[in-house]
Amino acid sequence: MTETVGFIGLGSMGLPMARRLLDAGYALRVYNRTPGKAVELLERGAREMKTPAETVEPGGIVITMLANDAALETVTLGEHGMAAVLGADGIHLSMSTVSPHLARRLAEAHRAHGSHYLAAPVLGRPTAAAAGKLFILLSGMAAAKHRVSPLLEAMGQGTHDLGEDPAQGHIAKLAANFMILASIETYAETLTFAEKNGIGRMEMMKLLTGTILNAPLFHLYGELLAKEEYTAPGFKLALGLKDIELILETGANSRMPLPAADLVHNRLLTALAKGRGKLDMTALALGVSEDAGLRRE
Ligand SMILES: NC(=O)c1ccc[n+]([C@@H]2O[C@H](COP(=O)([O-])OP(=O)(O)OC[C@H]3O[C@@H](n4cnc5c(N)ncnc54)[C@H](OP(=O)(O)O)[C@@H]3O)[C@@H](O)[C@H]2O)c1
Repeated sequence: MTETVGFIGLGSMGLPMARRLLDAGYALRVYNRTPGKAVELLERGAREMKTPAETVEPGGIVITMLANDAALETVTLGEHGMAAVLGADGIHLSMSTVSPHLARRLAEAHRAHGSHYLAAPVLGRPTAAAAGKLFILLSGMAAAKHRVSPLLEAMGQGTHDLGEDPAQGHIAKLAANFMILASIETYAETLTFAEKNGIGRMEMMKLLTGTILNAPLFHLYGELLAKEEYTAPGFKLALGLKDIELILETGANSRMPLPAADLVHNRLLTALAKGRGKLDMTALALGVSEDAGLRRE
């Protein structure tokens, strides 16, 4: 593997994704806002850089996996941002869940330097990232997509091409996350309904996943919701709130009411107000239980 790749953002998702790229033989330059997250990668030959700009080779590929719009904008266009260095034929592979309008703005900013923005947000939690089993929702310029395809293969089990508009990958990701978040709310209500009426949460979950809901989403989240184990966050609740806000904003911009998203938004806001932002997103189910008169405040 000849290409040196920049990797920015070594959180719950970024770290295992970067590990997959090292496994595939890429040389990595990594950056994380808080230093010290890269120790394990450095032992395997990655180089830790002090700024986003330093992670980039002119004309190279840089991957971002960051919390939100503000983080992505800072590392791209802020002081010591990488956009100014990426240069002609450089590629920004943008894998965070961010807004479609930021994607369009960054694509424009990169275009001014002759570089390309590819949207590549992912479906799958950190365990899927560690196993190279993410699904990647890709959009942007065709030639750039071709160049990154070996990287995508190292990190994912499948890529869905959503065309050339750099916003479309992010729109598809928000649509998928709306489905996931609304399903978690319904699932939590379903298990609590069963529990209130004398059927155990685990028994109900197994009944559903063994019959009409035999799909990865229901197995993965069913396990967490039935056990009510929310303290090891694969996906932090605060990031779920960020996603539902992006979903509502994108819906409003396209003149689309999303009543189910409003409900989930309130549920997540309440959870955040109660100090549950660092729990797993499925901890929204605590609110469902509390409303049903079950368990603690
Ligand atoms: N976790 C999942 O299951 C999952 C699944 C699919 C997609 N996603 C999406 O993937 C992205 C990353 O998620 P994650 O779970 O890895 O989040 P995370 O563990 O909270 O990591 C967030 C990363 O963003 C960095 N960051 C935050 N604010 C920053 C700022 N202002 N400037 C620079 N860096 C900043 C953090 O750096 P520090 O270490 O300095 O805080 C960290 O590297 C999010 O967009 C999320 O919605 C997550």
